[in-house]
Amino acid sequence: MNNTRNIILVGFMGTGKTTIGRALADQLKRDFIDMDIELEARAGKPIPRIFAEDGESVFRRMERDFIVELSRRNKLVIAAGGGIVLNPDNIRDFSATGHVICLKAAPDEILRRVSGSRHRPLLEQGDKAERIQNLLQQRQHFYDAIPCQVNTTGKTVREIVAEVRQLFHVGGARCAATVAARSAPPANPAP
Ligand code: S3P
Repeated sequence: MNNTRNIILVGFMGTGKTTIGRALADQLKRDFIDMDIELEARAGKPIPRIFAEDGESVFRRMERDFIVELSRRNKLVIAAGGGIVLNPDNIRDFSATGHVICLKAAPDEILRRVSGSRHRPLLEQGDKAERIQNLLQQRQHFYDAIPCQVNTTGKTVREIVAEVRQLFHVGGARCAATVAARSAPPANPAP
């Protein structure tokens, strides 16, 4: 792959960003960045403690600053945190220098994948299945707005990585350009 643009995997928690990102980076011989792991290292504490002690807004600001930094680099495979879609500037900046691809999965598969996890503070309040359903509902339009999508439900890592790679071969320009165009402000905003 001569293309040096970053590859950024976005999507809801439990859609496979870390697993697929690591395998993809391995195949493409690129550096892999897991945003959550890096942010925890920078903060010197795990994400649930950042949320509890500093608040979600501080975490979102850390994510934002990190995305600005990552967007200036190239040849990376990046597993983004599930909430980065909440700020359209994040998708705009990632799309400027990379291919953004959204992984998705059925809610019951997401539940199965995150059921043992204790590091996702947004799923720790109340019933996990309900939280997933509510958050997915609130965020669906953000995820759906990303033109390049891969459904990971019921597929092996090998199959998903192959699908992601295929998408870049046939639709690389679409994964790069359309998101940026969509999140740019309209040329003539309505009064
Ligand atoms: C979050 C997703 C998590 C992590 C944080 C917030 C979210 O990342 O960044 O707990 O708002 O969806 P993963 O998607 O890697 O679990």
